[in-house]
Amino acid sequence: METGLLHLHNFLRWILLILLLLSIYKAYVGWNNKKVLSAGDRKTWLFTLISAHTTLLVGIYLWLWGRYGMLKVEAPKDGVMKDKFYRFFWVEHPTFMILAVFMITLGYRMSKKDIPDLVKYRRVLWLFIVALLFILVAIPWPFRQVVGRPWFPGMK
Ligand code: HEM
Repeated sequence: METGLLHLHNFLRWILLILLLLSIYKAYVGWNNKKVLSAGDRKTWLFTLISAHTTLLVGIYLWLWGRYGMLKVEAPKDGVMKDKFYRFFWVEHPTFMILAVFMITLGYRMSKKDIPDLVKYRRVLWLFIVALLFILVAIPWPFRQVVGRPWFPGMK
C-alpha cells in the first residue's frame, strides 16, 4: 500500500500542476478581459482544490507512516536540520506544500466571496501563482542532489 501511495503522490503532482496552470490561465484571462465569473472557471478552481487536498492527504500519510515516516524511522543522530535528506522530506517539502495548499484553498474561497468578479480573478491569479512557485521550489525534481526523485511513478 505504501508504494502505491507513493506512486499516487508522484502522479497527483502532475494533475495538480496541470490544473494549477489552467487555473492561472483562466484567472488571467478573466481578469484581463474583465469577465463575469463563469461556472466553468470556478469548476476548474474546484478541481485544482480537490487535487491539492488529495495530494496533501497522501503526503501527510507518507510523512508520518511512509518508508521514511516520522513515526516509523528514527531521526538522524545529529538532528534533522543537519541532514539534508530528512530536512527536506520532514521539514522543507511539507512546509512549502502546506503553504501552497493553503493559498489554493484561500483562492478558491475567494471565488465564493461577495466581492466584484474582477477582484476575485485578480486575487485568485496572485494566490495561485505564489502557490505554483512554492510547489515548483519544493518538488524533489530528479535533477536535485540528495533528494531527487523520478519524473513519473515507478521510474528509476
Ligand atoms: C500538495 C503538494 C505536494 C506535491 C506536489 C508533492 C510532490 C511530491 C513528489 C513528486 C514526491 C516524490 C514521489 C516519489 O518519490 O515518487 C513527494 C514525496 C514526498 N512527499 Fe510530497 N508533495 C506534496 C505535498 C506533501 C505534503 C503536504 C507532505 C507532508 C505533509 C508531503 C510529504 C512527502 C514525503 C514524506 C515524501 C517522500 C515519501 C517517501 O519517499 O517515502 N508531500 N512529494
